[in-house]
Amino acid sequence: NSSTNQNLRTPIVAVLGHVDHGKTSLLDKIRGSTVIEGEAGAITQHIGATAVPLDVVSQVAGGLVDPTEFDLPGLLFIDTPGHHSFTTLRARGGALADIAILVVDVNDGFQPQTEEAIRILKETGTPFVVAANKIDTVPGWNPQEDAPVQQTYEAQSDRVRQSLDEELYRIIGNLSDEGFSSDLYWRVQDFRANIGVIPVSAKTGEGVPDLLTVLMGLAQRYMKEDMEINLAGPGAGTVLEVKEEQGYGTTIDVILYDGTIRPGDTVVVGGGNDTIVTEVRALLKPKALAEMRAEKRFEQVDELRAASGVKIAAPDLDDAMAGAPVRVVGDRDVDDVIEEVEAE
Ligand code: GTP
Ligand code: MG
Repeated sequence: NSSTNQNLRTPIVAVLGHVDHGKTSLLDKIRGSTVIEGEAGAITQHIGATAVPLDVVSQVAGGLVDPTEFDLPGLLFIDTPGHHSFTTLRARGGALADIAILVVDVNDGFQPQTEEAIRILKETGTPFVVAANKIDTVPGWNPQEDAPVQQTYEAQSDRVRQSLDEELYRIIGNLSDEGFSSDLYWRVQDFRANIGVIPVSAKTGEGVPDLLTVLMGLAQRYMKEDMEINLAGPGAGTVLEVKEEQGYGTTIDVILYDGTIRPGDTVVVGGGNDTIVTEVRALLKPKALAEMRAEKRFEQVDELRAASGVKIAAPDLDDAMAGAPVRVVGDRDVDDVIEEVEAE
């Protein structure tokens, strides 16, 4: 995109929430693909990253996001599993995130992993919005495919609108119990002081334009300075997963949140026993709009800038650990970088 500033990195958006509340479906809707189809309702076992470039954000948001008003390159979404046993994956996602979406099923309301996600967001101080999902399941709902909230509201009967409002205010009450002031997003002036609640349906796409608009606005208005990093500097990231990959041996899936990485770079990676120092053999990137765990969509790239999800193929990665830091050494002293990684 010609209007994007080359030194602004993509904000990382973590999607958190209770099991089956619709995190993956929501990302799938944004992505506009059908990755989830074969596994609808299945527990998300892996953390994945989805890069959505600004022009796609703008397209999905309809008239609500004017790409010429934004200079952030897009949004990088990290999906997390809601099943209770995956606390560390949620914590890792929360720690990496610049912003988060807390997905809450309007029928089911606050559940244990909703509360847990809120604790993680509190601890990390991550600003978030609430996607009140599955509004299409309100009895009597009149679905409006991919429509913004206002248009959808207008299409519902008074009774349906009232039922939805009751559910939304229940969520607002739950947030208040957790110490957060919140309101329906169109009433929120300052998204740092008040949590915006956005009614959405991952199934019909209703409210998704609003969600993307609020996220882009939040990122652009309040986080732009944090996104101004030296993208040409040595890359820094976090290992999400360690995976065996045919033809590449042991690889690491990494979220790169700072700088640049290239094949041939010396990298330091946190390991189970010893810190690993190795050389990047290949960078495997999912194509934009593809997801990291859709294995066959990788392409080799010569250079990658933050923020991105990337699979790194390199020798000696067997002992690498999920959650460990990854640092490109660049022109620094390798011992200094080892020390930095071991201190984390
Ligand atoms: P975990 O990853 O296991 O935590 O679940 P998740 O939060 O990713 O939920 P997922 O997207 O897998 O959706 C769970 C089920 O809810 C699936 O059967 C979806 O089709 C359904 N679902 C998700 N969003 C909506 C929605 O907006 N409306 C309706 N009617 N169903 C939805
Ligand atoms: Mg999921």
